[in-house]
Amino acid sequence: MAFAISTRNAVAILVTLLLVSARPSSSTLQQDFIHCLVDNTDMAFPIRASFFSPDQNATLFKEELESTAQNLRYLTQSNPKPVFIFEPLYETHVQAAVVCAKKLQLHMRLRSGGHDYEGLSFVAENVTPFVVVDLSKLRQIDVDLDSNSAWAHAGATVGEVYYRIQEKSQTHGFPAGLCSSLGIGGHLVGGAYGSMMRKFGLGADNVLDARIIDANGKILDRAAMGEDVFWAIRGAGGGSFGVILAWKIKLVPVPATVTVFTVTKTLEQDGTNVLYKWQQVADKLDEDLFIRVIIQPAGKTTKTGNRTISTSYQGQFLGDSNRLMQVMQKSFPELGLTKKDCIEMSWIKSVMYIAGFPNSAPPEALLAGKSLFKNHFKAKSDFVEEPIPVEGLEGLWKKLLKEDSPLTIWNPYGGMMSRISESETPFPHRKGTLFKIQWLSTWSDGKASEARHIEWMRDMYSYMEQYVSKKPRRAYVNYRDLDLGVNEGESDAREWGAKYFKGNFERLVKIKGEFDPENFFRHEQSIPTKIG
Ligand SMILES: Cc1cc2nc3c(=O)[nH]c(=O)nc-3n(C[C@H](O)[C@H](O)[C@H](O)COP(=O)(O)OP(=O)(O)OC[C@H]3O[C@@H](n4cnc5c(N)ncnc54)[C@H](O)[C@@H]3O)c2cc1C
Ligand SMILES: *[C@@H]1O[C@H](CO)[C@@H](O)[C@H](O)[C@H]1NC(C)=O
Ligand SMILES: *[C@@H]1O[C@H](CO)[C@@H](O)[C@H](O)[C@H]1NC(C)=O
Repeated sequence: MAFAISTRNAVAILVTLLLVSARPSSSTLQQDFIHCLVDNTDMAFPIRASFFSPDQNATLFKEELESTAQNLRYLTQSNPKPVFIFEPLYETHVQAAVVCAKKLQLHMRLRSGGHDYEGLSFVAENVTPFVVVDLSKLRQIDVDLDSNSAWAHAGATVGEVYYRIQEKSQTHGFPAGLCSSLGIGGHLVGGAYGSMMRKFGLGADNVLDARIIDANGKILDRAAMGEDVFWAIRGAGGGSFGVILAWKIKLVPVPATVTVFTVTKTLEQDGTNVLYKWQQVADKLDEDLFIRVIIQPAGKTTKTGNRTISTSYQGQFLGDSNRLMQVMQKSFPELGLTKKDCIEMSWIKSVMYIAGFPNSAPPEALLAGKSLFKNHFKAKSDFVEEPIPVEGLEGLWKKLLKEDSPLTIWNPYGGMMSRISESETPFPHRKGTLFKIQWLSTWSDGKASEARHIEWMRDMYSYMEQYVSKKPRRAYVNYRDLDLGVNEGESDAREWGAKYFKGNFERLVKIKGEFDPENFFRHEQSIPTKIG
């Protein structure tokens, strides 16, 4: 291919060509950056093809910026844009990028899968200029059944990781996220839960090793980074300690037959009472069983009736439907699951079922890495320690019915999640948690209705305060929520830090202060180098 040049001279010629054809401003920064990269790597590489800037090709720049960005709220005209996006092809390029950004005092954002709820991987408020280093071209996955492990590079999606595992064995899996387009790079660093969490814990609980680049551009593995940093990167959230290049993950056993189901109850079908019962049993069920509840208004408001609330129980059972029926009859007969509701399939197909693919989609669809969910949205999270009483649920229905497209997803805890101690990783939401709630409101008309939806979200969140975890009211760092506080704002990091990490926050701050004292890796809610 045209860019496959192999000598440093050829690179220099390319750079010169770029210089000649370029205009000032952002392109000057890009040229300085490219010069620095060339000085800091011995390998020749297709530089021009790895850079995307508005000056070079505005259409292409926009395409690349938007490619994996999930929250469209952060792609409007008023959001600050990077001067350029760099998509490295080799690890040495990422190393050089860190060295050069530091040297040129360019603020850097890291992007793997682009799913950050607050767009922190591609938007930096109040920091100009900034650049995005997008790892989507570093996505190699090596599965090794002999050692029961795999190395997955940061830009791979979880769907690709699942696919590569099942390609080698139908009885191995990995317990990470439900949505197949998540980047493994930014996902595991914040915990990563999925439908096998009750049996095996989080993705981060099943990490064996990692390769990261520190603020000096050095690549470190677990032994070289030390146990403190290795602890920190398994839950601190992305963008605080370094660039995760790759994770070594532990595979887990899955049965050849997995059963899935979806059973929906509206309010007219006793939905409120069934949900009240679910809250009492969901964390105590057989650990092979995960039943999440997807709750949203349904139906249209008409002259004769009102919208109702639909509660959809989506289950994954690591076993066949006969045993599932026994478990359900014993522990949760109120749902009324029947054999007809049960669909037996391979583990990989069950992953796709939960991710929202049509049943006919082949596993190869996971390789497209396409997101099935792109929207303007605001989200928040909560953890629940005691069942929400029926009157609390009824109050919530009233709130949900007032909003255009709200959605709330309740995920059961218990099992392995309650056997791992709060300080084992930075992720502290363990024993005593019945379930986690994700709150969402989505819309499609951009800025026009944004303020109204965010106001609705805050009002609903304030109503729910009485029913959820307290002191601190806890939150999941992978559901990044800047309402909780931001660095360099009025807020006290100690407060939002405790919500995400409880007592682990202070240890994270100490490790950050030692590992990245200049705070090179930072964003609105990165771990600060010191507090108070
Ligand atoms: C539709 C949807 C479904 C989701 N489902 C789940 C789920 O089932 N389970 C779950 O646990 N979470 C889920 N999440 C949340 C998800 O885990 C987080 O958004 C996660 O941070 C995504 O990682 P990413 O690489 O795709 O995102 P990015 O936006 O690329 O990165 C997220 C953060 O990590 C930083 N970062 C990115 N790459 C690196 C790297 N290589 N090294 C260091 N820092 C990096 C970024 O700067 C940013 O701060 C979901 C999110 C969405 C939008
Ligand atoms: C810019 O990028 C777009 C989209 O990839 C492409 O169609 C177009 O030809 C490019 N324009 C130039 C001038 O290279
Ligand atoms: C619909 O909602 C309104 C306002 O809450 C209420 O007065 C009315 O009785 C409801 N109609 C039906 C059919 O439930």
